[in-house]
Amino acid sequence: MAALKLGVLISGRGTNLQALIEHCGGPEFPASIAVVISNKADAVGLARAAEAGIATAVVPHGDHNGRAAFDAAIGNVLLRYGVGLVCLAGFMRLLGAEFVAGWRDRLINIHPSLLPAFKGLDTHARALEAGVRLTGCTVHFVRAEMDEGPIIVQAAVPVRPDDTEGTLAARVLAAEHRAYPLAVRLIAQGRVRIVGGRVEIDGARVPDAAMLNPRDD
Ligand code: GRF
Repeated sequence: MAALKLGVLISGRGTNLQALIEHCGGPEFPASIAVVISNKADAVGLARAAEAGIATAVVPHGDHNGRAAFDAAIGNVLLRYGVGLVCLAGFMRLLGAEFVAGWRDRLINIHPSLLPAFKGLDTHARALEAGVRLTGCTVHFVRAEMDEGPIIVQAAVPVRPDDTEGTLAARVLAAEHRAYPLAVRLIAQGRVRIVGGRVEIDGARVPDAAMLNPRDD
């Protein structure tokens, strides 16, 4: 089966992009990155893509007259590279409903919380403030509403009493780097279906135990 062609959309440092680059370079990984698109010319992730020999495009949002024109410019790049799955990886612009509908079920995002908790920005600060004992990350299909959509993969990360926003973000980020390539692989293997608004995954095993936090044994 031909590898699924990914278009990765970024705005910044691109560590999730880096994780995808590394997995896509591995033997038998069923996806490859066709193009990386940034709305910011100085995104560090662009250098990561160039270093890996991957095509890049900069589509500055300020250069376009409104969201529809910006979305259309991104769509044109994706079509030019024959992209089959769009991966948002720290892409800090909201895409319009028309774009989202056009890429329905072929557009995924990673978010640094266990959705539907803590949608939006500053997830780690809000998780600490709320006193949750577990947080994590979610890879999901994108719908028009922000941080909504069928959930593909989640990773749970325990919160420590001495965590700061920075230490918690770092541990969740490490989990993101495992969760995103896993979600992409499952989709590229054709094992992911959306049924009644929820994701079903063929042949996926489920871990046995609950993660308890704290432990006192
Ligand atoms: C990640 O925390 C991701 O979950 C969120 O934006 C951040 C991007 O980080 N959507 P990076 O650019 O991949 O390092």
